[in-house]
Amino acid sequence: MKGYFTEEGSVEAVNARMGKQVDPRLAEVMACLIKHIHAFAKETKLTQEEWELGIDFLTRTGRICSDERQEFILLSDTLGFSMLVDAINNRRPPGATENTVFGPFHVKGAPVRQMGENISLDGKGESCLYEGRVIDLDGNSIEGAKVDVWSDNAEGYYDVQQPEIQPKWNNRGIFVTGSDGTYRFIGVKPVSYPIPDDGPVGQMLASLGRHPYRPAHMHYLVTADGYQKLVTHTFVGDDAYLDSDTVFGVKKTLVAPFQRVAQGPTQWRSLFNFVLAPTEHPE
Ligand code: BEZ
Ligand code: FE
Repeated sequence: MKGYFTEEGSVEAVNARMGKQVDPRLAEVMACLIKHIHAFAKETKLTQEEWELGIDFLTRTGRICSDERQEFILLSDTLGFSMLVDAINNRRPPGATENTVFGPFHVKGAPVRQMGENISLDGKGESCLYEGRVIDLDGNSIEGAKVDVWSDNAEGYYDVQQPEIQPKWNNRGIFVTGSDGTYRFIGVKPVSYPIPDDGPVGQMLASLGRHPYRPAHMHYLVTADGYQKLVTHTFVGDDAYLDSDTVFGVKKTLVAPFQRVAQGPTQWRSLFNFVLAPTEHPE
């Protein structure tokens, strides 16, 4: 009878309940989700025990979440879902710097620093001069661009992971470009580190035979009026985890040169230009 649930007609049975006044986008997304999640159960012939395991996993994922920890985003990151959503929503014209995963360690309100300042407040690790230009697609300098940077310290931890150990705002700062569009600061050469793996996501990675590591990277959030927000990293080119980043964040164009400096204020130098796409650029 119409409306009753059957294995074959499961999707139609559920989606037929959608109200007439439901927001059209919500109706579209939910109907598609039902279609795919039912197909998943059918294709895998999901057992009752597996369903219970999945519910238990999601329950534990929710329970470990707090203001400081977002295990669901970590789950999305490690399943490649965050990078997929980012890719769909940030298709850029050729030549523009690509986006990558934002991650959980950005902190709003970092200090605005003088151009050339050192952001490594604990003085640990190998120092690196980071410099380049913020430019548009035609190579013109962008004045007034905010370059918000953050990285782990030489031991692989962000300041917010070690509030008792690291100085506040260690390895963070905002640099605002002048009329020549250049940015320049000193930081540490970042190191690879494991994402927080002491929860359900870490257990999932271990049971899938996956390591929890991210290759060494510097985070950037670059914003300027009239241009698309750029959320990106630069990656250290010789890192052992470049081709197995646990959150799939590596893109070829984001692997940056890190050169040893024989003489100078830092041991390393990394040159990278950020090319911003205009907000109104069509896909
Ligand atoms: C990060 O690079 O900070 C990060 C990104 C995704 C998950 C965990 C950490
Ligand atoms: Fe990171």
